[in-house]
Amino acid sequence: MCGIVGIVGASPVAEQIVESLRRLEYRGYDSAGVATLENGRLTRVRAEGKLKNLAAKLQEHPLKGAVGIGHTRWATHGRPTENNAHPHATDRVAVVHNGIIENFRELREELTARGHVFKTETDTEVVAHLVTDEMQKGHSARDAVAAALPRLRGAFALAFIFNGEPDLLIGARQGAPLAVGWGEGEMYLGSDALALAPFTNTITYLDDGDWVVLTPKGAQFFDASGLPARRAKVQTQASAFLVDKGNHRHFMAKEIHEQPEVVGRTLAHYLDMSSGAVRLPFELPFDPKTLTRITISACGTAYYAGLIAKYWFERYARLPVEIDVASEFRYRDAPMVDGGLMIVVSQSGETADTLAALRYAKEQGQHILSVVNVQTSTIARESDVVAATLAGPEIGVASTKAFTCQLAVLACLAVGFGSARGALDATREAELVADLISMPGLMAEAFKREPQIEALARDLAKAKDVLYLGRGTNYPLALEGALKLKEISYIHAEGYAAGELKHGPIALIDEAMPVIVLAPFDAVFEKTVSNMQEVAARGGKIVLIGDARAKHESAVPFFATIAMPDMAPDFAAIPYAVPVQMLAYHTAVVMGKDVDQPRNLAKSVTVE
Ligand code: AGP
Repeated sequence: MCGIVGIVGASPVAEQIVESLRRLEYRGYDSAGVATLENGRLTRVRAEGKLKNLAAKLQEHPLKGAVGIGHTRWATHGRPTENNAHPHATDRVAVVHNGIIENFRELREELTARGHVFKTETDTEVVAHLVTDEMQKGHSARDAVAAALPRLRGAFALAFIFNGEPDLLIGARQGAPLAVGWGEGEMYLGSDALALAPFTNTITYLDDGDWVVLTPKGAQFFDASGLPARRAKVQTQASAFLVDKGNHRHFMAKEIHEQPEVVGRTLAHYLDMSSGAVRLPFELPFDPKTLTRITISACGTAYYAGLIAKYWFERYARLPVEIDVASEFRYRDAPMVDGGLMIVVSQSGETADTLAALRYAKEQGQHILSVVNVQTSTIARESDVVAATLAGPEIGVASTKAFTCQLAVLACLAVGFGSARGALDATREAELVADLISMPGLMAEAFKREPQIEALARDLAKAKDVLYLGRGTNYPLALEGALKLKEISYIHAEGYAAGELKHGPIALIDEAMPVIVLAPFDAVFEKTVSNMQEVAARGGKIVLIGDARAKHESAVPFFATIAMPDMAPDFAAIPYAVPVQMLAYHTAVVMGKDVDQPRNLAKSVTVE
């Protein structure tokens, strides 16, 4: 993901900004830039490639301003060129951005019609022109930002400096992290504590929806509704190690909350946001049109990602999918069609059973495509093509952001294959890509349910057994929800296809058995309502994770409803993973369990 830095003080800031950007290099990037205010005018220096190229340019063109912003860019909208590198600017404002502005095309059209001229292919440039447009209406810099922010949709973090405003730096957070660093006569903005560690360990994390006005003397925080807000100062140990928990109690919490940002970054790596088409970042060693079947194999959470992808490949690419857990597949001596495709899914890329499944498939003449988070891993090295998840390091043993990034990659592959095979026309492909682009914003929206989920966890913590139900892609998500709960809270939980309830599991139902039902208002919702009525009739406590229509359309006495935003059902499993993860997390916290390092578990099972 991209990195953001900003400094407002009394002495030249460009070198400090580059030093801070160096601490964000772990995030991965392909261009960088700095902007400062020189004699009241915005001046930028940007460079393709690594920071050394930017530093060399700054040697030739030193920037002297005492207020500035810097950025390391992982290309999303637009190629990794100098022209597309941040900061983006008009003559009034310069901005750096991390994340995705989903509605940038409509804003760009509106602003173009109002006479704004765009110079880049990026969504970020739209933000600079939107704020400029507000300033041209006579608004002050801070009022212009306050007016512009509510018009932006998506998951993003932003930092602004303004022409003629040497003591002003503004930051905003919606779905991607941003923190304020407190200095002496100098104030800072950074994507995380690491970026701020060279200057201070006293920081304040912005909450989602917050924006902040910084001067050399201090910071004023405002919440999503624009009201002044108070945010706590914390001391961080960020300089101690490369990855820190941010303002979260556990790595798992941080990684749950990083999902809008890393899923957005992963999607942007596989989609052409401008044309609304899938654009795979690698050559395929086979023609999707020649495929007759796909085989998928993985373990644990990665297996559930594969199980969800089975529905997508069959529905959108019209390809039958055979899927099995790797520990079974590796010994089944399965017959395989020569020239077929084997997809293995693995966060670590080192899971022994998954590696063995890969090697079996390779011996059977399959093309090997791996979906992995560690691109230097053994599985990656033994694959014909690697479809990377860009989740960043996942420290919590319970997989969260890697899972949703796996889903993002698999969804892009399914749609891309569907398009290549003529099973999807350009219009339908664009619709599905637009649904995918909306995922980070929907995931960020789901965080608003966290206080309710935290309260519900106190009830769930008393349960001995929990049942998760779902249909379609929500069935594998029910399996994942059960795994998440049992592996960190140690409560026995089971996921079931909702339609299977009456074939046995309904015998379990009584007042002591919470039933978590994953049911957006989709084509099979009515069927799930019948299942919920069967549970209610036997006194079962039902927790519905669904959208508003699902709640209103079903006359079922719910114990609780976690209302998700309305969304197209195609990829609902991606945002619906968030409440499922939060429910497991908060239940384990209530029970005082070791959330990041649950008993008996390892992050990567490199043995059989
Ligand atoms: C998931 O929460 C578990 N930690 C576990 O099931 C994990 O998904 C499984 O071991 C596979 O690991 P991998 O993705 O690194 O291959």
